[in-house]
Amino acid sequence: MSYTHSISNRMINLVDRTSIIPIIEIEDTRHAVPLAETLLNAGMSVVEVVLRTTNALEAIREIAQNTTCIVGAGSLVSVEDVIKAREAGASFGVSPGSTPALVDACMDLDFPYLPGAATASEMMTLAERGITMLKFFPAESSGGIPYLKAIMGPLPHLRFCPTGGVNESNFMDYLSLGNVACVGGSWIAPANSINNQDWEIIAHNVERSLINRDGA
Ligand code: 3PG
Repeated sequence: MSYTHSISNRMINLVDRTSIIPIIEIEDTRHAVPLAETLLNAGMSVVEVVLRTTNALEAIREIAQNTTCIVGAGSLVSVEDVIKAREAGASFGVSPGSTPALVDACMDLDFPYLPGAATASEMMTLAERGITMLKFFPAESSGGIPYLKAIMGPLPHLRFCPTGGVNESNFMDYLSLGNVACVGGSWIAPANSINNQDWEIIAHNVERSLINRDGA
């Protein structure tokens, strides 16, 4: 009954490499490579840079060109954002919600896409287009874990990356759900730690979360 479009399938393959996607906001382009190297060395190879700063596209370009990190572009809200993110070297795009124009653009450009959805109708509309891997956003304020559990019955073919209020103390509860493929959040590399170049603190955040995940 459900089919998955290749841009969603490729997104599923990307998130299969990880279970936690650090969502990062970079003010200073010079922080991009050291931050990506810190995340990589500590064990996380997929990151999302949100287009919420003037230097975000340049930061994506730096990470894509100079590291082996798989870098995606987040907070895409227009077709122009999709085009620019792809040109900068982003391997995937993420948006807080979705519009038919954004879905069309990602399909036309064959760009792996993780659109946001917070209601059953939004999820079903995206599934009709073959988008079956979705960002559940904003997760905590949209019903969190009880919501994801409730839609597992009627929408069993969908997989989610909850973000928005996901943090060190609740991410394991999300990951334990059958319909959660990965989680995303800013707790790994908060903006103030990036601005202060607190690479050691960020590395410890990664290590603690991975230890938690692996039950070590
Ligand atoms: C997002 O873009 O998904 C969120 O801003 C991340 O939310 P968080 O800061 O609550 O992790």
